[in-house]
Amino acid sequence: MLVSLFVCPLCQSPLHPAPDTWRCDGSLNPKQIAHPFDVARQGYVNLLPVQQKKSKAPGDSQESITARQRFLAAGHYQPLQALICEQMDKLLVEYRASLNKSTENKNSSTVRWLDIGCGEGYYTQAMAPLRIDTLIAADISKPALVELAKTSKAANRLWYQKAKEVKPEDKQTAAIYPLVTSAAHLPLRANSMMGVSSIFSPILPEAFNEILQESGYLVIAKPDVGHLARIREALFDEVREHDSDKFLPTLAPYFKLIETQHISTLLSLSAPDLADLLTMTPYAYRARSEKRQALLAMAEGMPFNTEAKFVVYVLQKIVSLNT
Ligand SMILES: C[S@@+](CC[C@H](N)C(=O)[O-])C[C@H]1O[C@@H](n2cnc3c(N)ncnc32)[C@H](O)[C@@H]1O
Ligand SMILES: [Zn+2]
Repeated sequence: MLVSLFVCPLCQSPLHPAPDTWRCDGSLNPKQIAHPFDVARQGYVNLLPVQQKKSKAPGDSQESITARQRFLAAGHYQPLQALICEQMDKLLVEYRASLNKSTENKNSSTVRWLDIGCGEGYYTQAMAPLRIDTLIAADISKPALVELAKTSKAANRLWYQKAKEVKPEDKQTAAIYPLVTSAAHLPLRANSMMGVSSIFSPILPEAFNEILQESGYLVIAKPDVGHLARIREALFDEVREHDSDKFLPTLAPYFKLIETQHISTLLSLSAPDLADLLTMTPYAYRARSEKRQALLAMAEGMPFNTEAKFVVYVLQKIVSLNT
C-alpha cells in the first residue's frame, strides 16, 4: 500500500493528494467516512478546519503580505535569504552523502522539507533549487498561500505540475505543496521530514519533533539584537530589545544546537520602502500614529538608513533512546 505523507486534519487517517480533491481514506475515522479537501484554483490546499481557526482570517493579512512581497522583491533581505540557503545546502549535501553510504536508507531517499509560516514564499522559492524533492510550504494565512501557489505555478514547481512530465531543466527543483494549516496541527506523517525551517515564524518544539525524522534538522531565523534600531528608536520612547535566544530552552528537550550565525545588512530605504517595512513589521502598529508619520517624513527626499540584524540557528533532533 502507498504510504501517504499527509494526514487528515479531521480524523488523522492517511490523506491522498489528487489534482482536484485530496481525500483521506477514513480508516481511522470511527464512521469510516472519507473527508474531501478541494484543491484551490491557484493550486494550494486548505487543510485548516474551522475548529482550528482562532479568528475568521488567521495569520498575516493581504495588506501585510503585499507590503512584504514588495519589500522583499526589492532585495533588502537578500543576504539573509542567501545565508539560509547556504546553511540548508550544507545540511542537504551531508544528508545525501550519508544516504548514499547507508544501504538501509536507500529506499527512503526522498528528501522532504517543511517551511512553516512560509508567508508568500520569498525564502521558500529560494529553497526549491536546493537538493529537496518535496517542499511543503505551510502557513495559516490563506492570502499568503494564494501568492505562494501563483509564484510556484509560474516557476513550474507546483506539486501537480511536477507529478506530470517535467522538463529536464526543472528536474532539479523541488515540488512545492502549498498548504493552509496551523503549525500546531501539522497534517504530516510522523518522522517524515528531513528538515523544518521557521523563518520569523512560530516555533512549536513538540510538533516539529513529531514530524521530523531521526537526526532531522531545524533551521530558525530571528531578528537579532539591534535589528532596525533606528526605526524602533524613532517609534518608541522606550525600546525593548530583541531577545533572540529566549526560545532555545523550549527546544532543548528535543534538539541540540549545532550552529549559530549572525548577519547584518545596511538598509538604505526610500519612503515607500520604509512604509512597506512598517506595514510588514508587527510592532510598528504599537507606535503612535504621529511617531509613524514623523518617521516616514524622515525618508522623504533622502534615504533612511538603518541596520537589519538577524540570527540563523541550526538545530538537530536528538536521537531518541526509545527508537
Ligand atoms: C513574520 S511572517 C514570516 C513569513 C515568511 N517566513 C518570511 O519571513 O517572509 C510569519 C508568518 O507566520 C504565519 N503564522 C502565524 N501563526 C501561525 C500558525 N499558528 N501556524 C502557521 N503559520 C502561522 C503568518 O501568517 C505569517 O505568514
Ligand atoms: Zn479524515
